[in-house]
Amino acid sequence: MTRSTLPLADLRKSYESAELHETASHADPLQQFGQWLDQAISAQVPEPNAMTLATVDSQQRPSTRIVLIKALDPRGIVWFSNYDSRKGQELAANPHAALQFHWVELERVVRIEGRVEKIATEESDAYFNSRPLDSRIGAWASPQSQVISGRSVLVANAAKYAAKFLLQPPRPPHWGGYRLLPERWEFWQGRPSRLHDRLRYTPQDSGWLRERLAP
Ligand SMILES: Cc1cc2nc3c(=O)[nH]c(=O)nc-3n(C[C@H](O)[C@H](O)[C@H](O)COP(=O)(O)O)c2cc1C
Repeated sequence: MTRSTLPLADLRKSYESAELHETASHADPLQQFGQWLDQAISAQVPEPNAMTLATVDSQQRPSTRIVLIKALDPRGIVWFSNYDSRKGQELAANPHAALQFHWVELERVVRIEGRVEKIATEESDAYFNSRPLDSRIGAWASPQSQVISGRSVLVANAAKYAAKFLLQPPRPPHWGGYRLLPERWEFWQGRPSRLHDRLRYTPQDSGWLRERLAP
């Protein structure tokens, strides 16, 4: 077996800080998620709003990257990106995706799966216009996921678009929001002896079925 210079096989941690019980969790997974997100923000974990986004390409091959949750409402979970990026192209071909949060300090994971749609253009405009100017210029300057010949391409593009748009860059047509409409949620709370708590929510009638999964 190839060896790391670090004792990887000996790295392990016992999870002891909290519990997740059927009786103490919300019947609505959106509320449960909102509570855990609030707690992650209050606990000042690093980047509590960062989530892994998994997509699948037209050959059924998965890929992941990190994005930031920017809104949460009864319809689902919103983030922003470049529609022409690798993830944008994969979502256009296959709208089924998965999100995952890992709040290490709280020993918690949330997994969310569902269909993804683009948000309304007015919603994208409103968020784009709330961003700092350099971020708005950056959305124009970066052909996200494309090969570029060097960093100078980005610097030159940023200078070009800053001169073109001055203080009022419009939202690029290739940039905007996505919303994942949850069809399945899982909440994981680490527990001692690897007997972790896992609650899965799937749609049932007009509400949600909440079931415990073995860890
Ligand atoms: C903490 C963090 C937050 C990020 N947030 C976003 C984001 O909200 N939207 C985005 O498009 N990329 C974001 N990125 C960059 C992506 O992880 C990724 O590099 C980029 O979107 C290109 O992915 P793709 O080529 O698979 O489309 C973030 C990266 C990190 C580390």
